[in-house]
Amino acid sequence: MNTFDVIVIGAGAAGLFCAAEAGKRGKKVLVIEHAEKPGKKILISGGGRCNFTNMYASPENYISQNPHFCKSALARYTQHDFVELIEKHKIAYHEKKLGQLFCDGPSKQVVDMLIKECGENVELKINCKVSSVTKKNNFFIKTSLGDFETGSLVIASGGLSIPKMGATNFGYKIAEQFGIDLIETKPALVPLLLSKDDLKKFKDLSGISLDTITSNKSISFRENILFTHRGLSGPAILQISSYLKENEEISFNLTPENNLNEIDNSTEKIELKTYLKKFFPERFAFVLTDYFLKSKPLYQYNPKETESIKNTLQNFKLTPVGDEGYEKAEVTLGGVDTNELSSKTMMSKKVEGLFFIGEVVDVTGWLGGYNFQWAWSSAFAAASEM
Ligand code: FDA
Repeated sequence: MNTFDVIVIGAGAAGLFCAAEAGKRGKKVLVIEHAEKPGKKILISGGGRCNFTNMYASPENYISQNPHFCKSALARYTQHDFVELIEKHKIAYHEKKLGQLFCDGPSKQVVDMLIKECGENVELKINCKVSSVTKKNNFFIKTSLGDFETGSLVIASGGLSIPKMGATNFGYKIAEQFGIDLIETKPALVPLLLSKDDLKKFKDLSGISLDTITSNKSISFRENILFTHRGLSGPAILQISSYLKENEEISFNLTPENNLNEIDNSTEKIELKTYLKKFFPERFAFVLTDYFLKSKPLYQYNPKETESIKNTLQNFKLTPVGDEGYEKAEVTLGGVDTNELSSKTMMSKKVEGLFFIGEVVDVTGWLGGYNFQWAWSSAFAAASEM
């Protein structure tokens, strides 16, 4: 039996960073990864450029049954701390927009950095399948590469999104095994599906992107939406998907920069269809006038009609019929109930020495680097207190 001070299951963002931090504190650490290489999601993240944090990350950017839970960890290890690490490793980066920091080069630099940070106290076993975890005083982990023992077991196996990247329900199963409550999981940051009727109207718009204010009952995002052949995607849709209830309507302000008052009492002879090309790609302007607005010369509209045009464009409603599921979701909403964990250490309140970090926990960030920041911050919190 090989004994380690700390065993981390999952060599993703949270697991690698936790192992590195525990290793720096002199702990002998084993990281167990079932895939053939570590950090597979980091490699594909940010379109291959890893959006590793967000300059403005704060607790308001996270969804959880307990919105206060993430505060302590985010305050102890901030986005500025991670940027310092990136700079220490001379990884070039830039802000794309809205505080989102991306590598200039490939995401692999972040994985390489994490592996380098792990140092000699950390051993990584890839292609290693865990068959059972049991606990007497210590935890006993049976795997395809041998049996291991530890006093501190860290579950960093992530959520359910993108199963082909190695996602499994391992973390939730361990929680269940030890009697730890879970919050129901759901795909989040996920493209949405439209009904057949809506798709008939929008079928020629696939690939068109529009700047909008996208809202539901609880929140609004000013970002682009993108028409797809199955429905809607783009940053505003991914963001709102994390907040959307089943069959909930979404409202779009399609002209966020313009209140359209110039169509009031207009003397212009141009048709609405042509006028709308000022704001939208032609194909979308035509869909609007084919299905939602009657096109005629602007001077012919009476005040009631112009109000109705404004209302249609600034309060455009669609009700998605579902989402594209874990195959396309960037993250998983829900997970290990935060009431079960110490917000300072991420350790289970019921099971001494059992930690949960990263996406497996019921803390889900917005799009834009917030999810990696949670991985770093929660990993640091656990490593600091072992
Ligand atoms: P993560 O999923 O990274 O790691 C879990 C690890 O555990 C994996 O290596 C997995 O193989 C392993 N594992 C699972 N089950 C196991 C088992 N039974 N035994 C052993 N190992 C097991 N976020 C962000 O902030 N910026 C971004 O740019 C992006 N981009 C992005 C793109 C795409 C396509 C996706 C799908 C997701 C993102 N994200 C993102 C989200 C981000 O990738 C995610 O939130 C973090 O990777 C979560 O880190 P974790 O370490 O918790 O899980």
